[in-house]
Amino acid sequence: MKGIILAGGYGTRLRPASLAVIKQLMPVYDKPMIFYPLSILMLSEIRDILIITTTESVQGFKNLLGDGRRLGLKLSYTIQKTPKGIAQALLIGRNFIKDDSVALILGDNIFYGAYLERILKEAREQVEENGGAYLFCYRVNDPTRYGIAKFDKANKLVEIVEKPDKPPSSYAITGLYFYDNYCVKAASKLKPSKRGELEITDVNNWYIENQKAEYTLLGRGYAWLDMGTFQSMLDAQNFIETIEKRQGLKIGSVEEIAYRKGFIGRSGLEYFIKLYEGSEYSEYLKGVLNDKD
Ligand code: G1P
Repeated sequence: MKGIILAGGYGTRLRPASLAVIKQLMPVYDKPMIFYPLSILMLSEIRDILIITTTESVQGFKNLLGDGRRLGLKLSYTIQKTPKGIAQALLIGRNFIKDDSVALILGDNIFYGAYLERILKEAREQVEENGGAYLFCYRVNDPTRYGIAKFDKANKLVEIVEKPDKPPSSYAITGLYFYDNYCVKAASKLKPSKRGELEITDVNNWYIENQKAEYTLLGRGYAWLDMGTFQSMLDAQNFIETIEKRQGLKIGSVEEIAYRKGFIGRSGLEYFIKLYEGSEYSEYLKGVLNDKD
């Protein structure tokens, strides 16, 4: 399975800051935003990853992550000239996906919670073995802002309604999607929606209509955060800070994950310790290296 991170967009609500730096490179507490979705793909054991971003920002991502080798990954980059919706990522990425399955994640999404790694593994295996799509639902307070799940009496997912005036439930479809190879074809058949976008919700509804969509509910105890505004970024930063300070464990440390998962060895981690020298992050990674647990 391959991975795609969609890290484009105009960042309209983050102006003026986004005129200088793309949102997904802005810091969220102690690390760049893209580390969080990248860590989710890594926890899913996906190592061949395409980052889709803008012409102006691609160099910034390359400065940060390079070709990924230092993290035991294979990273490539493609430009999204004009943002035309999330489903466009599947079309831009079609030559990268080739005949494989794919996990698509939005570059401003944070997922956190116990057993997440196990849930991700299950989602991946489900799609690799049986095909179809695998989605994640999360209860939100403001369901008019998202793609919202409609369930039947048996809790089967029967439809997703994008930004509903009258939400059929309080459960949003998060920005993490596991698909079999058919997603490229499904995306290529899409017409722009009323808001002029190729809607990922239309791809998902194709899978649902064809009885090929599974989902997991990320219930109490999970955090799913997306960041489109300064307020939501601040909320996310406060959340990350609280957990990290209390436990002394970092969320979304891609270097730690690469090391703990065996994508890189001791010398690979030592490289980052040196590269980040002088920062608290470097000290943290030293702790990881000496961790006997
Ligand atoms: C998009 C999707 C929506 C999904 C959300 C998750 O919304 O269209 O279905 O729930 O991402 O972040 P947008 O970012 O386009 O408002």
